[in-house]
Amino acid sequence: MAKGLTLSSTGCFLRAVVRTRPILPISRYHLKMRALLKLTAETAARYLENLKERSVAPSPQALEQLTELEEPMPELPTEADRILETLDRIGSPATMAMAGPRYFGFVIGGSLPAALAANWLAGAWDQCPGLFAASPIGAVLEEVSLRWLLDVLKLPADCGGAFVTGATMANFTALAAARHRVLANAGWDVEADGLFGAPPITVVVGDESHPSLIKALGMLGLGRSRIKRVPVDRQGRMLASEMPPLSKPAIVCMQAGNVNTGAFDPAEEICERAHSSGAWVHIDGAFGLWAAASPRYEHLIEGAAGADSWATDAHKWLNVPYDSGLAFVKDAAALKNAMSLTAAYLPQGEHREPSQYTPELSRRARGVEIWAALKSLGRTGLADLIERNCCLARRFAEGLQRGDCQILNEIVLNQVLVSFGDDTRTREVIERVQRDGTCWCGPTEWQGRTAMRISLSSWATRDEDVERSVAAILQASIV
Ligand SMILES: Cc1ncc(COP(=O)(O)O)c(C=O)c1O
Repeated sequence: MAKGLTLSSTGCFLRAVVRTRPILPISRYHLKMRALLKLTAETAARYLENLKERSVAPSPQALEQLTELEEPMPELPTEADRILETLDRIGSPATMAMAGPRYFGFVIGGSLPAALAANWLAGAWDQCPGLFAASPIGAVLEEVSLRWLLDVLKLPADCGGAFVTGATMANFTALAAARHRVLANAGWDVEADGLFGAPPITVVVGDESHPSLIKALGMLGLGRSRIKRVPVDRQGRMLASEMPPLSKPAIVCMQAGNVNTGAFDPAEEICERAHSSGAWVHIDGAFGLWAAASPRYEHLIEGAAGADSWATDAHKWLNVPYDSGLAFVKDAAALKNAMSLTAAYLPQGEHREPSQYTPELSRRARGVEIWAALKSLGRTGLADLIERNCCLARRFAEGLQRGDCQILNEIVLNQVLVSFGDDTRTREVIERVQRDGTCWCGPTEWQGRTAMRISLSSWATRDEDVERSVAAILQASIV
């Protein structure tokens, strides 16, 4: 027998390293696992406790330390507690403090305590919820969450729903359903016959659509360049009166929540115009869709329930850990037709089979955290989270305006665009803000100008965090 190899009971060769680490008796294994998970909990808790005072961006030293990870693929195993130690020593300082209260970059939500805890338990469960038979709990929590989501977002109760990675895939999934239905209505089976020779679909988008929506259209074979773009107003809202004449088959994509301004396309008017021509209306509401959950902000999204499909993120404003996106489709059969897969070895029971609605078969059980977040917040807590963030956005804007900064958008939701003068100066101030580390805000381009974008999207942010951040930004702007 070759040196370092041993023969297993099934006749396969095992490497010597496996022989030197025999499978532990079950009780010792459990003791080790308990100690490891306790250590993990303590490490994670310490990390979260430190977030409030540490620099939001990682320090240059922390980034330099990352080179320690660049070692060749190890030949031998490493104990789990040593792996955790390395991750915490090198990894934790090199994180961006997104889970903390003063990260205002992009539109990145925090993680609610219940959602984080559920995420850990779900990790231990290690469920694959594609089929009810594979994970009854995974499938049921999706089903319950879907019902609750449609309720709080005020969408039709019989929508089909898909739990996916994020809004990009949610747009893709919902638009695949749209593509199915508009072509089926034209007598074409796109899943069977593809797009070659299919009746051309007119696709209309607002000129301020999020690039991920355009990417989703490209992935669906609908073309990034052949779409028709509708002009927008100064807040990025689609001008419904400028929509082109539509003839079937057609899909109109509108937006609830512009990533820069937070502004909403006029849903009622767009749905009316599109539906009068038999077009499908899709809404990208990656964060804006959550306005429907707030009595104070639901007017912004009036008419959105009249659309045919919607995409949103749970990792943004529902504050569940990454990654988590959601697609809802009024015509559940269209979603199922676009996504379903059959195979003799995949049993279909009488329950909702999650993989009939998603691009993936195997994936993680995202319904667990979504259920936990909704359960922990309740309807009132969710409304409060949305409204508190919006109130803090206004406070942010007022504080900066008092310090002579220019606010470039109407603060309708949770997004604030700030200019500190010309583009060069604005960029310099943003760099100083990021270096200072009190908070983190990123640059963006808005209607030809460089701006700093502030997004209030975390349950963890309080008044004092906004006050501290405003003071730090004003300090950076006068240096
Ligand atoms: C309006 C809009 N759509 C889509 C996306 C993409 O979301 P994700 O990164 O979750 O795929 C974003 C991200 O910010 C967004 O703001």
